[in-house]
Amino acid sequence: MDKIRIKGGKRLKGEVAVSGAKNAALPILVATLLSRGEHRVQNIPKLMDVATIKRLLNHLGAVIEDDGQGGWTVRMPALARHEAPYELVKTMRASVLVLGPLAARFGEARVSLPGGCAIGARPINLHLMGLEKMGAEIQIEHGYVTVRAQRLKGARIYLDLTSVTGTENLMMAATLADGVTVIENAAREPEVVDLAHFLIRCGAKIHGAGTDVITIDGVESLNDSCTYRIMPDRIEAGTYLTAAAITGGEIFVRGCNPRYLDAVLQKLREAGVQIREETDGARAAATGRIGAVDIKTLPYPGFPTDMQAQMMALMALSDGLSVITETVFENRFTHVAELRRMGANINVQGNNAIIKGTQRLSGAPVMASDLRASACLVLAALAAEGETEISRVYHLDRGYEQIEQKFSNLGGEITRIT
Ligand code: EPZ
Repeated sequence: MDKIRIKGGKRLKGEVAVSGAKNAALPILVATLLSRGEHRVQNIPKLMDVATIKRLLNHLGAVIEDDGQGGWTVRMPALARHEAPYELVKTMRASVLVLGPLAARFGEARVSLPGGCAIGARPINLHLMGLEKMGAEIQIEHGYVTVRAQRLKGARIYLDLTSVTGTENLMMAATLADGVTVIENAAREPEVVDLAHFLIRCGAKIHGAGTDVITIDGVESLNDSCTYRIMPDRIEAGTYLTAAAITGGEIFVRGCNPRYLDAVLQKLREAGVQIREETDGARAAATGRIGAVDIKTLPYPGFPTDMQAQMMALMALSDGLSVITETVFENRFTHVAELRRMGANINVQGNNAIIKGTQRLSGAPVMASDLRASACLVLAALAAEGETEISRVYHLDRGYEQIEQKFSNLGGEITRIT
């Protein structure tokens, strides 16, 4: 297993280009299953999760040509199989996104239940409730869920929780349903909007994406071929902006859309970081000690849970006391124990983490546990005194393209040990 070794203390300076958004690429690549067309999808990030979704799509019968530059040509002439096997799904829960498209276009889907992960139980009851309301017959046995439907019917679906992939799964399923589907309390994340834009370009009739009520008018089939460019990754962008803050440097993140990072930029500004929003990106410069701010994670447009761990690393070096409340996942503080090993003063009470800022962190051997917790440890290591070795970096590779190259180009002393 690879490790990453970081020697902290350098102020990071320079420019970094943000990659395509992982959480937009995954649903959009799955959405190609819905249509007979041949699609050209660009700005696909080179990530482990994208490699996994490619294996899954190939397994189902998709024909994919990858130009190696982040561009794929994808078409789904006919279904080879309707099953997403356990060995693929267990590594990436986003595989459940094939449920809606397969049920909608081919009338049947069989997907291994994703199981939990480090940050929580991650149930898919809302995905299944919605498909059931659309007339699907759901069966759960031997760790698999099977969805069958002659033709899905439009339905009014209220989501008890604003589930991102739940909204995406049901929006995709509804594009080919007979009648109109209304998803209420829908997730408003920009990645949901990106998926809706792709589907509309394939001929789907969708209104309200980006609001909490999405209306989909089902069509007989999606035939149009389309070319689509994945949106930039706002979480990767937020991670690099936080890296400037935590190392006392200055970084321009090219290609990100500051509009999708309002909550994060506001919190960084509150902490005393100088933020400049430019037409083709955002710049962060730290000017002295970081101030302590309180953070509460919420569905978009609230503060994103995927930036919670990164901000906790920053608050560990702030000049006061901050409280971080995680409201989206039930166990997303696995990075706290590792930060403590580096000298952070953090106390967890339920879904609150109370962080008392310290003057310095010290490098130490630490272990990554999930994608964003690993990013948090990289940020802490870049600011810490001495050397840090992060193990289980496959978590990082799931969501950050060329992370050691990008941080090295910014002056960080970071190497991968294979
Ligand atoms: C998406 O996960 C993202 N993944 C996550 O990013 C992100 O953290 C999360 O949304 C929240 O923004 C992708 O888009 C591939 P949810 P998702 O359904 O859709 C509960 C990363 O780091 N829930 O919005 O799985 C659930 O347990 C990853 O890139 C149910 O109870 O998250 C959680 O507590 C991590 N039943 C809450 O809702 C359901 O049927 C929000 O989860 C579905 C969800």
